[in-house]
Amino acid sequence: MARTDDDSWDLASSVGATATMVAAARAMATRDPNPLINDPFAEPLVRAVGMDFFVRALDGTLDISAMPDASPERYQAMVDGMAVRTRFFDEYFAAAGEAGIRQAVILAAGLDSRAYRLDWPDGTVVYEIDQPEVVEFKTRTLAELGAQPSATRRTVAIDLREDWPAALAAAGFDAAQPTAWLAEGLLIYLPPQAQDRLFDQILALSAPGSAVGTEYVPGIVDFDAEAAKERFAAMRDAGLDLDFGELVYRGDRSHVLEYLTAQGWSVDGLSRAELFERHQRPMPELDDALGEIVYVSGRLG
Ligand SMILES: C[S@@+](CC[C@H](N)C(=O)[O-])C[C@H]1O[C@@H](n2cnc3c(N)ncnc32)[C@H](O)[C@@H]1O
Repeated sequence: MARTDDDSWDLASSVGATATMVAAARAMATRDPNPLINDPFAEPLVRAVGMDFFVRALDGTLDISAMPDASPERYQAMVDGMAVRTRFFDEYFAAAGEAGIRQAVILAAGLDSRAYRLDWPDGTVVYEIDQPEVVEFKTRTLAELGAQPSATRRTVAIDLREDWPAALAAAGFDAAQPTAWLAEGLLIYLPPQAQDRLFDQILALSAPGSAVGTEYVPGIVDFDAEAAKERFAAMRDAGLDLDFGELVYRGDRSHVLEYLTAQGWSVDGLSRAELFERHQRPMPELDDALGEIVYVSGRLG
């Protein structure tokens, strides 16, 4: 279904299902014999959401041969891609902690369990923002699993198209303290002007010494929604009812690294290919509709 300005979702529908999709990939990456990440909460969270396609993927009963371009190499590259991305941002938060930052904001947190699984320095407060049903589900499910946050965790259940800075402040956020921000797997689901506004809002709330982590997805500019529809149609036959092409906002948008640099952030980026090389993962030739994604971290001042 096409996006609207005030659409909402749970973790089994629309944009919410993409959070379940990436968590399933983290669960698979955690099982790797030589893992780059350890996310023990990903699998129980995905199972609790209960989307049959992802549960079967975890059970090893999904027949990927039924999907035209889902070769074992592509499947492994997808899992490895999530592993290097997750590792990049795990290390980003570790570096922020070493630099003395004690306040983190995870925008569009989805099923991200970093507030429970990372080794945060004492006194760290982690804010998580996402739509109400997403926040409520993860909080309840992890509580039922007996999981304990490893930092002070505060949730902000709001749509990022609404006045989230006010909601964040109401939850106790202190704009006078440096913050480590994360916008992972989010930007392509925002219209271009909303992406700029998000970075403007982040900057306005960032004390000197703050950090930002995010991605640059070059392929979104001329993203082929029809091709995506075809690819996901094959997935639909296998039980995943998700039209990815309908969920993203394609077309011209600001270049993330240039936009952040112009705002005064000192930014660094590492492409997915560079991360595959760093972690010695095989990089198959893939015709990836989203292009060569760059993982970005920046510091202010
Ligand atoms: C691909 S998932 C990424 C989740 C998480 N950051 C991760 O990497 O595991 C996209 C997330 O963005 C959230 N999201 C997208 N647009 C949003 C909006 N306008 N307001 C709040 N959350 C949003 C969705 O609810 C979903 O959890």
